[in-house]
Amino acid sequence: MRTLRTVAELRAALAQPRREGRRIGLIPTMGAFHDGHRSLMRRARSECDEVVVSLFVNPTQFTESADLAAYPRDEGRDGMVAAEESADFLFVPAVSEIYPEGFATTVRIGAVTEVLEGVHRGREHFDGVATVVCKLFNIVAPEIAYFGQKDVQQTLVIRRMIRDLNLPVQIEICPTVRQPDGLALSSRNARLAPAERKRATALYQALATIQVLLSAGETDAARLLAAARSELEDPLIRVEYLQIVDPDTLAPLTTVDRSALAVVAAWLGNARLIDNLPLATPRTRSA
Ligand code: PAF
Repeated sequence: MRTLRTVAELRAALAQPRREGRRIGLIPTMGAFHDGHRSLMRRARSECDEVVVSLFVNPTQFTESADLAAYPRDEGRDGMVAAEESADFLFVPAVSEIYPEGFATTVRIGAVTEVLEGVHRGREHFDGVATVVCKLFNIVAPEIAYFGQKDVQQTLVIRRMIRDLNLPVQIEICPTVRQPDGLALSSRNARLAPAERKRATALYQALATIQVLLSAGETDAARLLAAARSELEDPLIRVEYLQIVDPDTLAPLTTVDRSALAVVAAWLGNARLIDNLPLATPRTRSA
């Protein structure tokens, strides 16, 4: 695996494989690799000839400077993980390489950025994500880019950007990887104190409760959400949102009689965790 730090170096390294028609896959990341990242790398390895992993803690998507400062960084360990997963290139640009002096462009996506994370973290978060992902697509020019289902709203924003800007990239969304107790893997889990870590499984339990009741025939979103909310009643947990939404628009549903998504965001101590579960209604399951 080669670690490259400049756009010019990466483009030069990819020129020959591209001429040979080799399929290039990209996994955009901010590092602090866990098994969720490994699963993206494995999927890319099985589908692509050249696997590029980008590692860039993108400052423009952090709406709070303390959050950016606290973001875990360990390039040495991440490099070992990417090499173990047989990535071909680790692209680790400096901030000045991505945002050189005078940088003045923002990619802003409408509609799907205006709810959920867009309300609680601010739309600027998605401006930062869309801008950096657009740049990474232009730098790497991958055929396929891989993202995790855990950041479901981010995947919708990127899909919208690809469609609206006619970007020639296919995206693949890989399932959320969970701890045995259901907690979705996230680099932010490292911020949980032991008691918070124990209770963090409540997020998944709340989502799973919705699925269980739905499978038993309950379709009223208010009743489903009330049952889920009771899983989250705990002095250690501060819920930001818990909703059942349309999986494409993220608009809240009142009756869950078609494919839907349960989404949650909550604080436990200093860690803000998000999770989601695609819901199967008896109807969508038999379809
Ligand atoms: O999901 C992430 O890690 C980031 O939002 C991404 C897609 C790498 C953009 O910085």
